Amino acid sequence: MKIICVAGARPNFMKIAPLMEIFRQRSEIEPYLVHTGQHYDEKMSDLFFRELGIPKPDVNLGVGSSSHAIQTAEIMKAFEPVCLEQKPDYVLVVGDVNSTIACGLVAVKLGIKLIHVEAGLRSGDPSMPEEINRILTDSISSLLFCTEQSAVDHLLASGIPADRIHLVGNVMIDTLLKNREKADKTTALEEFGLTPQHYATMTLHRPSNVDHAETFSELLNAVDVIQKDMPIIFPIHPRTKKNIEKFGLKERVAQMTNLRLVEPLGYLEFLKLNANAFVVLTDSGGLQEETTILKVPCITIRENTERPVTCEVGTNQLVGTSSPAILDAYHRIQNGDFMNRNIPELWDGHAAERIADVIIIRS
Ligand code: UD1
Repeated sequence: MKIICVAGARPNFMKIAPLMEIFRQRSEIEPYLVHTGQHYDEKMSDLFFRELGIPKPDVNLGVGSSSHAIQTAEIMKAFEPVCLEQKPDYVLVVGDVNSTIACGLVAVKLGIKLIHVEAGLRSGDPSMPEEINRILTDSISSLLFCTEQSAVDHLLASGIPADRIHLVGNVMIDTLLKNREKADKTTALEEFGLTPQHYATMTLHRPSNVDHAETFSELLNAVDVIQKDMPIIFPIHPRTKKNIEKFGLKERVAQMTNLRLVEPLGYLEFLKLNANAFVVLTDSGGLQEETTILKVPCITIRENTERPVTCEVGTNQLVGTSSPAILDAYHRIQNGDFMNRNIPELWDGHAAERIADVIIIRS
């Protein structure tokens, strides 16, 4: 059974890694890896392939950055001939980026069955580009693999038959658990001169936070206060970097001497930094899940989350973008009164195996 596996943007790579590994071990499955090229910088792409041992893609479509419409269309145009030539039994997509929906659409229009890994997550916010990608991809998939019960419930509520939906756990956590020891051996703390528990890490890249000068500026008020307490390591996403310049925030950021802007980091280094941080500040989806497993407090600077289990069971606090709310969450952590520290069901490092089992049984 031939399965075209698609990866395009940074958050896809840690999800596709354990799937490629298990598929290559199962004689019933012949995986074929497509990189759409949505992300292309060395530090946003190749570095992750090397660190996570992902095989070199069979093909890289090299689409690069553009508007949503152009990027989605370019991926579709480039992916269709690959499907026509390879004639796969399935196309498998992960997550919620533009590559996910673009390749999903191509597959189903050619009559190829679509598998969606990380199906059913919903932020309830249609202004978020990923939410549209999630809803559309789920609606055309034949097999839907979920990370948490809320996702199963959303899919059932939207009328998707129960026999297509499988709660299997979280492939991103497979990758984290597998790489934990390797990450521990990196010298990331020494490189940045950090003491465990005495610094924060931060990522910000959501358009809703960094594409609006006012919101960006407001949340920097909280960052300013926190960086007076402890260093904040801030690996900067290309989108965020551009907007700091565009909105004239460069000087303000430079004045925060304990806020340390660094280039995007590799998977292992960043895992080590997050695992030893006092707190993680983020608007990323994946980090909400990773901090839950690491049992490190996470402050999510967003109005909504598609991963509610991280708040209910894990270490996540969803606080919005106002500076007082961010600081309130920070002070709760300082006071030790934020103690949710459990692991969601099936986040045990074996999600990819369960996915392979279901695909083989169903075929
Ligand atoms: C994309 C995903 C988002 C994911 C994020 C992780 C969609 C709709 N969004 O957002 O869900 O959380 O990736 O990073 O698919 N750029 C570079 N080098 C690169 C890639 C991008 O410089 O390797 C710059 C480009 O100028 C580009 C901008 O970053 O315009 C944004 O990239 P894009 O892929 O459009 O969206 P992300 O914000 O990265």
